Amino acid sequence: MLTDKQVEQYREDGFLVVEEFVPARACDELRAHATALVEAFEPPEEVSVFTTHEQTRRSDEYFLTSGDQVRFFFEEDDTSTVNKIGHAMHDLDPVFERFSHTPELAAVAADIGMRDPVLLQSMYIFKAPFVGGEVTLHTDHTFLWTEPQSVTGFWFALEDATLENGCMWALPGGHRIPVKRRFRRADGGGTAFDELDETPYPQEGEIPLEAPKGTLVVLHGQLPHRSGPNRSPKSRHAYTIHAIERGAEYPEWNWLQREGLPRRGFQ
Ligand code: FE2
Repeated sequence: MLTDKQVEQYREDGFLVVEEFVPARACDELRAHATALVEAFEPPEEVSVFTTHEQTRRSDEYFLTSGDQVRFFFEEDDTSTVNKIGHAMHDLDPVFERFSHTPELAAVAADIGMRDPVLLQSMYIFKAPFVGGEVTLHTDHTFLWTEPQSVTGFWFALEDATLENGCMWALPGGHRIPVKRRFRRADGGGTAFDELDETPYPQEGEIPLEAPKGTLVVLHGQLPHRSGPNRSPKSRHAYTIHAIERGAEYPEWNWLQREGLPRRGFQ
């Protein structure tokens, strides 16, 4: 699926942008489906907010038990707008299931050296016009820890992601920097970060990953990346899958736990 040059680029940068990976109609189908799910959702009186701003993520029970569910999280600054859906649509929802399991994705995973990938988590991110929140700089390894490190992100632009509507930013080569934080379930309930290295990531050299609709961005689990807020009138819908190696250890203190769900690959 990928050329040698693309694989080399991924090794070098820690990410790879593959334009025109998903046909426009598959993007439209997923978008329409996610929108319909939100419209059918009856928000409870007190909604669960997704934020990356607090030192310890606001880890309510609804979030911590969403690893094997399809759940709705709202914007911090506008609690009437959905920020994202997570985290097991790829297993539980037929439309997401179809989008997430393709021979093309299996081939990309194999090309970048994944031996036996298991789909661990899925998220549908709305980044709504005007109110879509930012995601602060992080690595995915921090949040989905395996020994050895194996988490890999597969991020899909379902609409054009631009500088205006909050595209991703990444630090080329930053995946070679040892991970600085670890997010885990805390002993007394809730969650905590283990600070492994308090020095900040270098900001210089960070580049925007503008991505036309249909683009796949593959992200190494140790790559520092972020996305800005959306203050524009255009939404920025995206879908992500995080995969790990079947053979890697997945500690039980990871926030995300999946009771009784299959451990399926991309096929
Ligand atoms: Fe991420």
